[in-house]
Amino acid sequence: MAPTIQRLGVLTSGGDAPGMNAAVHGVVSAALHHGIAVTGIYGGYRGLLTKEVTPLTHRDVDGILVRGGTFLRTARCPEFQTPEGVQRAAENARELGLDALVVIGGDGSFRGALELSREGILVVGIPGTIDNDIGCTDYTIGFDTAMNTAMEAIDRIRDTAYSHERCSIIEVMGRHAGYIAYHTAIATGAEAVLLPELSADFEAQVVAPLRAWKERGKRDFIIVAAEGAEGLSELPAALEAAIGIKPTYSMLGYIQRGGVPTVRDRSTAMRMGERAVSELLLGAAASVIAEREGKICALPMEKALAMKTKLSKSEIDSARVLTNA
Ligand code: ADP
Ligand code: F6P
Repeated sequence: MAPTIQRLGVLTSGGDAPGMNAAVHGVVSAALHHGIAVTGIYGGYRGLLTKEVTPLTHRDVDGILVRGGTFLRTARCPEFQTPEGVQRAAENARELGLDALVVIGGDGSFRGALELSREGILVVGIPGTIDNDIGCTDYTIGFDTAMNTAMEAIDRIRDTAYSHERCSIIEVMGRHAGYIAYHTAIATGAEAVLLPELSADFEAQVVAPLRAWKERGKRDFIIVAAEGAEGLSELPAALEAAIGIKPTYSMLGYIQRGGVPTVRDRSTAMRMGERAVSELLLGAAASVIAEREGKICALPMEKALAMKTKLSKSEIDSARVLTNA
């Protein structure tokens, strides 16, 4: 027998991502369609601890699809990451009249949601992070927008690298997973790519390919590196010592976390929001919404959290073929 859900809460947690607003919009639209009231919680789990909340209606989400970031704000909340914090959050949720909670964030946020489910709160997670590194899903909200932002920046740097016959290292986000670096290196015709999935081997991954490009007469070089690539800080000196090239260094940083969400992110997020409400109506206690083989689906949260994702050897090999000489 599916539980009666009269009111659900929605929050955004962990690193923000373009499209999170669309996920909130999808949750609100679907919930109101089914006669369920919605409470927005500001600042991720912190807002649940402080009861910083607001009712959400169609009017409150009108116009947010075009906005990057999250209008509910987000936070990383160590206080919640304690048994006492989880218990207080669950008590607050009940006092706020929440029959369920939708958590939009990454793996860490889902682990927090799982703890809440063990306190009797129905929860469903929606994968939102620009890194695309959540094991249960082929796609996470924000990834497409972040890749396009990085690609456009790399294209601009290529212009000036060409003009000045320079080598430019461009650091993109991705502490533990190199998906942004992988796709943008290929999409921009970079001459080398450095990934956190690979142990440092500058000679094979950078020096040899650039030496080969130089021998072919190439005079400008783009190296795309994920921020989590091993030994990255030593790369400029290694390049200068090996082939006499003094590279420029551009860290794209937080521009990759903002910007107007693409249609891919808005559509996926809205549909994931709708599926999250359906999952709750079906009586799920703790699920994660995912996109798998192009379809929006739901998995049990514990099973989802046990799943891993990383660039495959064949993907890494194809990046080498497509970037190196
Ligand atoms: P992301 O969700 O993007 O992975 P974090 O790992 O920072 O971001 O997690 C976001 C928040 O989720 C944390 O600040 C904390 O409040 C909560 N959280 C993360 N891991 C746990 C956990 N194991 N137990 C309880 N809460 C957690
Ligand atoms: O998890 C997404 C992400 O943007 C990573 O790519 C990046 O390393 C991290 O968040 C930065 O975290 P913060 O916003 O807490 O500095």
